[in-house]
Amino acid sequence: MERIKVALDDRSYDIIICSDCIKDTGNYIKDIGLKDKICIVTNQRINNLYGKRITGYLKKAGFAPFSILIPDGERYKNLKTVSDIYDKLISYKIERNSSLIALGGGVIGDITGFAAATYLRGIPYIQMPTTLLAQVDSSVGGKTGVDHKKGKNLIGAFYQPRLVLIDINTLQSLPKREFRAGMAEIVKYGVIADEGFLNYLEENLEDILSLKKDRLLHIVKRSCEIKARIVEKDEKEITGKRAILNFGHTFGHAIETITGYKKYKHGEAVAIGMVMASKLAYRMNICDVHVYLRIKRLLNRIGLPTEIERLNSKEALKIMELDKKVSEGKIKFILPKRIGEVIISSNWKIEDVKKVVENM
Ligand SMILES: NC(=O)c1ccc[n+]([C@@H]2O[C@H](COP(=O)([O-])OP(=O)(O)OC[C@H]3O[C@@H](n4cnc5c(N)ncnc54)[C@H](O)[C@@H]3O)[C@@H](O)[C@H]2O)c1
Repeated sequence: MERIKVALDDRSYDIIICSDCIKDTGNYIKDIGLKDKICIVTNQRINNLYGKRITGYLKKAGFAPFSILIPDGERYKNLKTVSDIYDKLISYKIERNSSLIALGGGVIGDITGFAAATYLRGIPYIQMPTTLLAQVDSSVGGKTGVDHKKGKNLIGAFYQPRLVLIDINTLQSLPKREFRAGMAEIVKYGVIADEGFLNYLEENLEDILSLKKDRLLHIVKRSCEIKARIVEKDEKEITGKRAILNFGHTFGHAIETITGYKKYKHGEAVAIGMVMASKLAYRMNICDVHVYLRIKRLLNRIGLPTEIERLNSKEALKIMELDKKVSEGKIKFILPKRIGEVIISSNWKIEDVKKVVENM
């Protein structure tokens, strides 16, 4: 079992990473002082796989658990689903000292975190992420929220969980494509913060892709550590230090928007975005060509897409300008200087960005 502390004054919490530990869920939650009524928010599929068992473990530990099932999919990450959750919480007489558990991927985590942030002006919640992306990214850092018809994640709150409980065994049931998409965020951590970690990914890739437990424990732990250290420096994206987590995401969001959020999973769009950002860095003489080639090769080995055909650069630039990561009208790109270090730059030339986007 690994334990990482996220130090944020009175909002501090632990991330516990373990293998086959959901049977101890009740004890971990008792340890942080929560008791009585606890509500698991999940979907039908995850409830069948893990939720029902967890309910049993919570009862054994003295809790009064119940579940709220919400439909599966990003298209339900909206205020209507949050409102349905409020209705159930009210009918179950959930009060301030009760808590929520987000059991599932990033969609469940974001919705449940937002419901917890807003119901009765905030009740405690626990993240129990079951996708690789949620384990290494969305469950840590306190960004919660839902989509609006005009755009993704437009409504939300920074609201930290009281505990993140990660059982890497849940990854065994995850579809392979979802696993590979989560790997994109893990590669991101190596590029932005730790060359040794990128070496580890390169050297152990076959074992990681065949879900060897010690390898999974290591990569989830190291990713959470890197994210935790960055979040601690800039919890609410005020100083700009958290922005480096957006490596690959500015191009990635443009790709997701242009392809209508249908063709690519988030991690797949981020993979193409990281290749574009490193190619831009190389074109701008910020990094060596080998940095770009190394990132691309690793993503290819994982089985992630690294190129996109016929992307309109005008359209992409327009979308990126509308994105949040703009400084005085100019898009800020996160660009690798070398593996393990990135810079934030708005000092780019339009021809370079066009060439990168259009894959010329
Ligand atoms: N809050 C943040 O900081 C943050 C960061 C990154 C992404 N996100 C958000 O995360 C969401 C994407 O999350 P995701 O990639 O986890 O997708 P997801 O939550 O849609 O999960 C993907 C699919 O996997 C299924 N699933 C989950 N765990 C499973 C398991 N163990 N076995 C079998 N199937 C399982 C889900 O039911 C779903 O169908 C997006 O809405 C994105 O905006 C948030």
